[in-house]
Amino acid sequence: MAANVALLSASSPSTSAAVASSFLSRRPLPRCCAASPRRASSRLSIMAALGDDPIKEWILTEGKATQIKGTRSIGGGCINAAQRYDTDAVPFFVKTNSRIGPEMFEGEALGLKAMYDTKSIRVPLPYKVGSLPTGGSFIIMEFIEFGRSRGDQSALGRKLAEMHKSAKSDKGYGFHVDNTIGSTPQINTWTADWIEFYSKHRLGYQLELASRRYGDSAIYEKGQRLIKNIRPLFDGAVLEPCLLHGDLWSGNISSDTKGDPVILDPACYCK
Ligand SMILES: Nc1ncnc2c1ncn2[C@@H]1O[C@H](COP(=O)(O)OP(=O)(O)O)[C@@H](O)[C@H]1O
Ligand SMILES: [Mg+2]
Repeated sequence: MAANVALLSASSPSTSAAVASSFLSRRPLPRCCAASPRRASSRLSIMAALGDDPIKEWILTEGKATQIKGTRSIGGGCINAAQRYDTDAVPFFVKTNSRIGPEMFEGEALGLKAMYDTKSIRVPLPYKVGSLPTGGSFIIMEFIEFGRSRGDQSALGRKLAEMHKSAKSDKGYGFHVDNTIGSTPQINTWTADWIEFYSKHRLGYQLELASRRYGDSAIYEKGQRLIKNIRPLFDGAVLEPCLLHGDLWSGNISSDTKGDPVILDPACYCK
């Protein structure tokens, strides 16, 4: 967990090449930060009020904005509430979930950062994950303005291939943390053998979840038969683990205003 927090704070907008240069120019300290007792006490009360809203608190401190000009809901997601925060610096994209703790967004942030670090396909840079005082959690990330078209699909294919090639895994199949696909847990225990990983942590785990939830033993038994007989299906296949988006469907693909492909909302692992 500590590693996640370090990773996220290291990628705050002030160190990101992806944010506008105007954002990097230091703004004067807000007047409330000057050192007079009255100002110090008003600063304390502002900080106390912000403490109730960790999203605003982050945007107005590490996010380097001095004013939030407005927020707007964004549709198109499946699981979370999404909002655009307009500020006097850059806009931010924020997702919140009122029921699920920060682990889900920590997994998403690590996945986004891993893909971002490949410098291949455009991915929003994650800035901050945290808990909401009312329960649930949030993630703040770079806001990407989308273009009008769905983008060039062959460019998408090429960029994805670049990402796969540039992020070979030397730990085998898996990921640094378990994460979620949608809101379904996904187990990512590092495993040296692909067939073992896929049988146990993908097919086997999903079959167990389905059997627990729906009690359908016929599907469970068919699935177990497939797992027992799966190894010969991979005879001759050369398998090399590399970083995958993990939940790449049309709802998680877009393009920016230049027409370059953008991928979002991953369930990353090395496959
Ligand atoms: N970084 C971003 N910048 C701007 N818009 C975004 C960003 N990430 C996602 N979106 C928009 O918000 C929608 C919901 O985001 P998504 O991460 O898919 O949510 P969910 O986790 O609920 O599926 C996306 O379909 C997309 O239109
Ligand atoms: Mg989504």
